Amino acid sequence: MPKAIFQFPRGFLWGTATAAHQVEGGNNNNNWSQWEETPGRIVNNQRSGLACDWWGGRWVEDLERARDSGQNAHRLSIEWSRIQPEPDRWDDEALAKYVEIARWMTNNGMTPMVTLHHFTDPLWLVAMGGWENEETPALFARFTRRAVKALKAYVKLWVTINEPNVLVVSGYLDGIWPPGKQDMDALFRATVNLVRAHAAAYRAVHDIQPQASVGMAINYRSLVPAKPWFPPDRWISRLMAASFNDTFPWAAQTGVVRFLHRRQRVTEAKGTQDFIGLNYYTRDLVAFNLLKAREMFARRYFRSQALTSISNFFANEPNGMFEGLKWCLQFKLPVFITENGIEDPDDRLRPRYLAEHLHQVWRAVNFNWPIKGYFHWTLVDNFEWERGWTQRFGLWKLDEQTQARTRRPSADFYAEICQENGISAEMVARYAPDVFAEMFPN
Ligand code: FCB
Repeated sequence: MPKAIFQFPRGFLWGTATAAHQVEGGNNNNNWSQWEETPGRIVNNQRSGLACDWWGGRWVEDLERARDSGQNAHRLSIEWSRIQPEPDRWDDEALAKYVEIARWMTNNGMTPMVTLHHFTDPLWLVAMGGWENEETPALFARFTRRAVKALKAYVKLWVTINEPNVLVVSGYLDGIWPPGKQDMDALFRATVNLVRAHAAAYRAVHDIQPQASVGMAINYRSLVPAKPWFPPDRWISRLMAASFNDTFPWAAQTGVVRFLHRRQRVTEAKGTQDFIGLNYYTRDLVAFNLLKAREMFARRYFRSQALTSISNFFANEPNGMFEGLKWCLQFKLPVFITENGIEDPDDRLRPRYLAEHLHQVWRAVNFNWPIKGYFHWTLVDNFEWERGWTQRFGLWKLDEQTQARTRRPSADFYAEICQENGISAEMVARYAPDVFAEMFPN
């Protein structure tokens, strides 16, 4: 057995990522709790319910799991509707709970990364028009100031908004997420307001905490032409990538929002990111198709040779991770992989998904690209939005009825990676033998 090891730089952050609504339980004052009550919105009408019962205190045992398996960081989000349950009421007890969690992490050798907005909006904000309302960015900045003042002793890594690109497409184009619209004008308004909100929050954090590091987490989808020699496929895949992947980080870089043929200057957004948060999961082939007017004339599908997750939600495409990291380089900023993972109840694909994706991260790190950490999605199975409980992304399995947790083999694999700060040939031979020859040829 060769002694080869793909070693990561000293100080690399290894963690998992979670989001408030998906793990806390008992959230009943935001747009997602409302969405869950509407029949037909969530698979089998499932509810987040108690979720992983973090609000009831199980965050401690789960973060102990993370700590005991060598993770030195964790990304979590705080729930706006808890901290500000009404426009003029702040719940300092709720905020104190987040401070306690962040303090615990710091005392336990785990760097917290805090997301200020991960898909959920307080109901009072919804009543005011949500992201279509021009006043929302200022309201978000006000919430941000309150949160940062409370958490600044323990937190200096901030994600303003998680996947604004997924939020606008799912909420305003596909209509499968709240507010359930299919309206390009509304989509563009929301996009501009999300960019403004990001910029306002960026400045709010820096006013209070000049040394903070602030960015967005972007869902990077690798979109490649189905027939690379066919100009219409090349054109449509490039257009989709420009709208989906590039819009938000470019707006924060240049102060110009572009989506398809629309364009708007948001000057205050220019230069408002300290790092790029990359959420990478999968790759699509994109074919131009005149019958797909509603999908921007594109048919998207997975490569037939690629292994796919159990509900065909993601394909295992590790090269897309390398491509995504390369895409990050254009911004000339440090990069965190803020999410990456696969739904896999039986842990059939996850070990190799993990090995192959981290191998690509390692390759990028070895070109000296400024990659600072990796957060696996996710620690324990949780509530997966419109897909409810049907998708299992956890290193630990969750029985949401009994709240029992069970380790999957990937939890052990990831623990060894974190402890070693690298992936050794010997680990891959044990956990992901299928890809051994590919990762360690000869
Ligand atoms: C991402 C979301 C995260 C989780 C994963 C599977 O798009 O940010 O909350 O649902 O997908």
